[in-house]
Amino acid sequence: MKSRIVRSSYALLIISSSSFLLACNSQPTHNASSGLCPQERTTEMAPAVNASLSNPLNLNASNLDAGEQLFQSSAEPLACAECHGEKGDGNGPMASMFQPAPRNFTCSENIAALPDGQIFWIIKNGSIGTSMPAFNKLTDDQIWQLTLYIRSLEVKPAKMETKVPGQKQASLY
Ligand code: HEC
Repeated sequence: MKSRIVRSSYALLIISSSSFLLACNSQPTHNASSGLCPQERTTEMAPAVNASLSNPLNLNASNLDAGEQLFQSSAEPLACAECHGEKGDGNGPMASMFQPAPRNFTCSENIAALPDGQIFWIIKNGSIGTSMPAFNKLTDDQIWQLTLYIRSLEVKPAKMETKVPGQKQASLY
């Protein structure tokens, strides 16, 4: 009798865990070149006064190049690509070492509604409770250049070109 109960609870466990896996697999994975999209997020929101700052720099080739250089190789203590990946998809060489995983910036659901000031704040101060370090030696201009570059990594879904009124992504504020 007891073993039947044990067996059936195992069966139940297997059934419920496989439907859990199915549920995970059925998450939308569009607009990401790889990595999870959308992703759960641990990072807290910056104080509203900081998050509402807008990027003072122009979106031009020299600012994007400077952001790329920092992201891919020169930022200290560690280049962003080590964790966020060369394409910004969250799959850098060190990514699997960390829980929560680094953000996937190619994913519109992760990045589109994130204010510039939030991106700036987290780069400058880090994200408490995650492996995201504070890059407090970078100048403000360098952090804004990184912000421009991160936004350029987003892979926009083709369907966003035909905007449906009323279907705008909810803002975080
Ligand atoms: C050691 C690994 C690591 C490095 C290096 C790293 N990050 Fe992160 N980053 C993370 C993790 C982990 C998170 C948080 C994931 C979460 O919130 O679930 C994160 C989050 C972020 C966010 C999230 C903002 C938000 O509010 O969602 C931004 C922006 C960011 N990183 C930018 C950068 C930039 C730019 C660099 C380089 C200057 C960098 N990161 C370097 C691991 C890293």
